[in-house]
Formats: sequence, C-alpha cells, structure tokens
Amino acid sequence: MILTLIGFMGSGKSSVGRLLAEELSFTFVDMDDFIEEMTGRKIREIFREDGEEVFRKMETKALSTLLGLDGSLVLATGGGVVTREENRNLLKKSDYIIYLRTGMETIKNRLKNDDSRPLLQGENRDGKIAHLFDERLATYENLFTHVVDTDSLSVLEVVEVCRGFLQKSFSRRL
Ligand code: S3P
Repeated sequence: MILTLIGFMGSGKSSVGRLLAEELSFTFVDMDDFIEEMTGRKIREIFREDGEEVFRKMETKALSTLLGLDGSLVLATGGGVVTREENRNLLKKSDYIIYLRTGMETIKNRLKNDDSRPLLQGENRDGKIAHLFDERLATYENLFTHVVDTDSLSVLEVVEVCRGFLQKSFSRRL
C-alpha cells in the first residue's frame, strides 16, 4: 500500500508524512532525501550546478523506483513533482494521493524565513511563490484522491484527518 502526499512547498508533506508513517507503522520516504542519498548530492547543489531540468529527471527516476516498491509506504513528494506528465501518471500508481491544500498566504508566511528552497532564492520571494502557486494549483486539484485543507490545522490534526481517510476506505471494503 502506497500513500503519497502532494502539495506546494511548505504545505507540511514531510512533517505530516513522517508522523503518519509512524502511527501506521509504515515506512516513510521523503523524495528529496531519497534523491540526495541516491546521488550523494544536496538538492541545492543539483539545482545550482545542473539546473532544474536535471533535477526533474532525477525526480522521475526516484518516483518510478519508489512507486515500484512492495510494502507499506508513506511517500512525501517534492512540491514540483506534479509539473511533469510522466510523474502525474506514475503518481496514479499510489493507492492514496493525499493533497495537503494550503492557501497562498499561509505558504508565504511559512516560507518567510526559509532559505532552503532553490526556486525561491533571491529577490521577490512572495512573487515567486505566487507565480508557482498559480501555475500549479489546478494540477494538484486534478490529481488527488483525498484532500485536507491544512490552513487552520496543526500537523497532528492533519495526520488524524489522513488516518480517517484510511479507516473509511477500509470499512467500506469490509
Ligand atoms: C520543489 C520543492 C522542493 C524540492 C525542490 C523543488 C518545487 O520540495 O523538491 O526544491 O519545485 O516545488 P518541498 O516541496 O518538500 O519543499
């Protein structure tokens, strides 16, 4: 069973995923960490030295490997994974695609002091966020099997909503 979390940078995919996996006794994989381990390089370095396109290819390779695994997995994706059609098709192999839907103002606030995202470096961070947000919103909306509106929820509350999805679908199958 693979449960995949999608959503914009700062939507909480990694924190929610880690906790959710722990509560379900599933294995947790953060795709960015997986790519760093696979390549022995930092995401920042890959973007700086090789550019976004090369990173996207690595992301597709990682996604294809991870979605081919057996076992029980919670997978936290990178926010840009939905931008490639190939990735969107791969993502559909997940049993659950949970979209952590977060408003743009919340994202701007959460990422205010964050220097780690290569796509948000330099001037006008809010403008960059707004641009990517508008570009990607419809793609997230068209891909999910389940959605959580996270704006007013804590990480723990989001985890509980996700657990509720699983319980509901299991009881429906019984
Ligand atoms: C990206 C999001 C990042 C990381 C990379 C690109 C994006 O992951 O994959 O910096 O294009 O939105 P997070 O969503 O975990 O920040």
